[in-house]
Amino acid sequence: MRIANSFQVLAEACLFQPAIEAKLEATRAAELALASGALVPAAVTDPRPAARVQFPECPALVEPRHLPRRSLTSPAGRVAFLHAVAHIEFTAILLAWDMAYRFAGLPEAFTRDWVGVACEEARHFEAVRSRLRQLGADYGELPAHRGLWELAEQTAGDVLHRLAMVPRFMEARGLDVTPGMIDKLQAVGDAESVAVLELILREEVGHVALGSRWFDYVARQRGLEPEAAYFQLIARYLHGDVRGPFNRTARLQAGFSESELQRLETLGAA
Ligand SMILES: [Fe+2]
Ligand SMILES: [Fe+2]
Repeated sequence: MRIANSFQVLAEACLFQPAIEAKLEATRAAELALASGALVPAAVTDPRPAARVQFPECPALVEPRHLPRRSLTSPAGRVAFLHAVAHIEFTAILLAWDMAYRFAGLPEAFTRDWVGVACEEARHFEAVRSRLRQLGADYGELPAHRGLWELAEQTAGDVLHRLAMVPRFMEARGLDVTPGMIDKLQAVGDAESVAVLELILREEVGHVALGSRWFDYVARQRGLEPEAAYFQLIARYLHGDVRGPFNRTARLQAGFSESELQRLETLGAA
């Protein structure tokens, strides 16, 4: 059965209502319906503004300086760390859906790819949330970083900008910092959390790789040289605030070129 407008309905059910469970259900429903052929990605002609995307009532979204400390050696610090990761993964569900939903004029494969990413992000979120629950906590109990949606709003008008700044900047930064987190969790003997972060790291390489592939596609379609376009966007949105060190192996797997890495390292060292 094919439901009229079902793609838009599911995307909006995830993005524009606040309940966590309903967002997760819409994401699961999209995965099943895409796999069975019941759902065909269709362009949305009148996407609602990215600024209207809804987050749940909890966690409270605050400035980073108001977040709890997260030294991984104490149980409370580990909970604070995992809560921050849960919030990143939760926001990533919305970022992937918004990518699939907002931008017209792209092939159906683009939409399928980003709905697929949304499904993986939902699984990442649920894995971190289960680990929090094992530790006697839950997502929503602590405050969370309010800034993670900002780049989505700033880049809502142009898919090339969104691809550069979300998968090829924010998610790529995750590839750089996650191995260090895994090492710290290993050092304190938290094998369960290590397993969750290892799963996330593996799959995030795929998300960044999709970002690279589609960035390249859109840039070339516009007659732009992808690397030059990428660094122009980095300069525009980050004002030079590029930080290393970079996970070269993961970034190369995820479609960064050697030359891009060298330029990033030069910027990161400045
Ligand atoms: Fe993720
Ligand atoms: Fe991701």
